[in-house]
Amino acid sequence: MAEIQPWQILPTAADVAAEAARRFVALAQQAVAERGVFTVALAGGTTPRLMHELLAQAPLVGQVPWSQVRFFWSDERVVPLDHPESNYLMARLSLLDHLDIPAEGVFPAPVEGATPEEAAAAYAATIAAQVGQAGFDLVLLGIGPDGHTASLFPGRPEVDAPPAPDVIAIRDSPKPPPSRITFALPLINAAAHVIVLAPGAEKADAVRRCLRPAAGELPPPAGRVRPGAGRLAWLIDEASASQL
Ligand code: 6PG
Repeated sequence: MAEIQPWQILPTAADVAAEAARRFVALAQQAVAERGVFTVALAGGTTPRLMHELLAQAPLVGQVPWSQVRFFWSDERVVPLDHPESNYLMARLSLLDHLDIPAEGVFPAPVEGATPEEAAAAYAATIAAQVGQAGFDLVLLGIGPDGHTASLFPGRPEVDAPPAPDVIAIRDSPKPPPSRITFALPLINAAAHVIVLAPGAEKADAVRRCLRPAAGELPPPAGRVRPGAGRLAWLIDEASASQL
């Protein structure tokens, strides 16, 4: 049986953002129609900004039942929520501030005035209460050139720390800022759908190592995102697909 390729190659990063936004709308409409709610964990970094901006404007902004959406973050830096490095701030400025939504539907990681460990434990409790065993309807992720995803970095014990709590504290991230909290792989893989946004030439090697590892080559953390058949989609562009 032909292997189902969990990736779609788009011409450019802008096309990746547009396809991600389209899928977000479709998944939100489906979840709300079926269960009256759409739980989504937004990705950090800079890549998601363009997708957010598309969702925040016509025509897509009118196609999502925003008041039934519950927003979380698949990782967060342990900085104030108005700090330039905050993943919450990026999403607030590029998406949330443009929506007429209740504050009760937005669940930023509780990083302010907390240690990474305290924030991780508190967020895990919030997620358990709000999302429960069903898992997220959608988890969005980016990847780094080293193959990290969320704040799960290669060669770091946190990635496989058994028994992995749902949310893990990171204190010495190789990508600044150093202190973060991150979804653990089991929480990511429990999602109904995972979309990995990975455009850009600087991601090409990581994309290849994740999607086409050589025999015996252990994939980096992003390559261990495996939510199950048909529930994973890597959205890449021609530049990041160049080594596939
Ligand atoms: C973070 C992210 C991280 C990010 C990748 C890609 O908090 O830094 O969650 O995993 O998604 O590093 O970052 P860019 O989108 O900026 O390339």
